[in-house]
Amino acid sequence: MTVVRRVFSVFPALSRLLPSSGRCSNRFTTAADLEELITPPVQINYTKLLINGQFVDAASGKTFPTYDPRTGEVIAHVAEGDAEDVNRAVAAARRAFDEGPWPRMTAYERSKILLRFADMVEKNIKEIAALETWNSGKPYEQAAKIELPMFVRLFRYYAGWADKIHGLTIPADGPYHVQTLHEAIGVAGQIIPWNFPLLMFAWKVCPALACGNTIVLKTAEQTPLTALCVAILFHEAGLPEGVLNIISGYGPSAGAALASHMDVDKLAFTGSTDTGKIVLELAGRSNLKAVTLELGGKSPFIVCKDANVNRAVQLAHFALFFNQGQCCCAGSRTYVHEHIYEEFVEKARLRAMRRVVGDPFKRGVEQGPQIDSEQFEKVLKYIKSGIVSGATLECGGGRFGSKGYFVQPTVFSNVEDDMLIAKDEIFGPVQSILKFKDIDDVIKRANNTQYGLAAGVFTKDVNTANRLSRALRVGTVWVNCFDVFDAAIPFGGYKMSGMGREKGIYSLYNYLQVKAVVTHLNKVR
Ligand code: NAI
Ligand code: MG
Repeated sequence: MTVVRRVFSVFPALSRLLPSSGRCSNRFTTAADLEELITPPVQINYTKLLINGQFVDAASGKTFPTYDPRTGEVIAHVAEGDAEDVNRAVAAARRAFDEGPWPRMTAYERSKILLRFADMVEKNIKEIAALETWNSGKPYEQAAKIELPMFVRLFRYYAGWADKIHGLTIPADGPYHVQTLHEAIGVAGQIIPWNFPLLMFAWKVCPALACGNTIVLKTAEQTPLTALCVAILFHEAGLPEGVLNIISGYGPSAGAALASHMDVDKLAFTGSTDTGKIVLELAGRSNLKAVTLELGGKSPFIVCKDANVNRAVQLAHFALFFNQGQCCCAGSRTYVHEHIYEEFVEKARLRAMRRVVGDPFKRGVEQGPQIDSEQFEKVLKYIKSGIVSGATLECGGGRFGSKGYFVQPTVFSNVEDDMLIAKDEIFGPVQSILKFKDIDDVIKRANNTQYGLAAGVFTKDVNTANRLSRALRVGTVWVNCFDVFDAAIPFGGYKMSGMGREKGIYSLYNYLQVKAVVTHLNKVR
């Protein structure tokens, strides 16, 4: 099932329930009339670093606060790992790889542990989703009904791969028996962002473990809690100590120490393009560890002349506003054919006005707060820049409510390609609608960016769909759908959106070495 269908089934009665507001009245629907809290915040039990199967304090003894983005209040103090803790964690991962049972057990045994973990997470989805919502501000229904089931699916998918990874027998020219062995690389360093804390955990951890590697994972400083919480279940499922080590902490200290560590064999990073460049350089200057990067984006969402406008509006809205607009692949350049432009803009504005913003724990809420004050300020700055540069503000444009980091769903029309809001990754609930005349024109404009992560195409014409799919320089093209993220589908960027692919069969290659074994044959037959 695709994300799109799930999202709509989570909020089936939305269009009937919610009043539409008058033009530019900026009276957004709130959660006030909806049902009360679904799940109260959960108890926080795990705040230390996870090294060698033990929860430990940071070597420095330091902690840092983690916040509830609904209010900006501190919800816990978490051990702050830095270079010394990274050293300890890498040493544990090294021991677990060189001497421990994980790479030595059969692949079937490994797959059974991954499956057991998936079952345990599935049984505890509500509690885990509540913690994810509390720390990240994403709607609880989104966490519980979309992201956690995807997390479970990812672990089952890669459990299935564990005992199907093998090399080839190769017919070389000469009296040789040639085989390739597909071996685990060793210690994987993984650095993840805050927009999908658990899904990013799964994208990174699943393929690394399926291939028999060990891991040091650095979570984002904004969202350290859920990785620690699920790690407990993983150890209960039978994961040997030292196989998965988790360091909470900041990028320039803990993250940089991991990226430049001489005993880390592979680095996987998701985050901003600027930080991606830094970690690539750190990896290159240290031990030339293999690097995969999943970075920023500015995805075009192209609505063709023949599109059903109502459906295109819904999908374009979802493509941009999902997860508070905090998606690397967000459809943040909505290109609409001039023939249907006016109608589309008006309907996009009405849809944004109906978006339910409020406490992410409340049933029916579609949009919670941005992750922190920095992101909140950044989004508001881009909104101002849109206004100053002459785009038409159709709705939104400011803070929502009086506390926390909520931003009004914002729609700009008459956006031009050279405006900052059409060029930069805003990472917030700000839709920019641009006009185009013909397919050649929109292909050029869609590709005229440093990014190349994803694109959406909305058309009834199979020839147009095929043409755009081939011409767009991006890692994923969604045709008449968006944000379809099944575990089996590869994801990654062209250009400055990254290097390498995650998910599907492709991410296994990130975590394997290929060894050629060439044996001389005395007698060919
Ligand atoms: P970031 O890229 O700086 O942070 C992502 C991860 O990298 C975090 O775990 C962070 O601690 C770590 N990190 C930061 N500096 C590091 C360094 N010098 N060495 C090693 N690791 C380091 O992203 P940030 O600052 O949280 O957000 C800034 C912008 O990045 C956002 O506004 C958004 O545009 C983009 N972003 C893109 C994401 C994506 O999914 N591709 C996810 C998060 C942010
Ligand atoms: Mg940063």
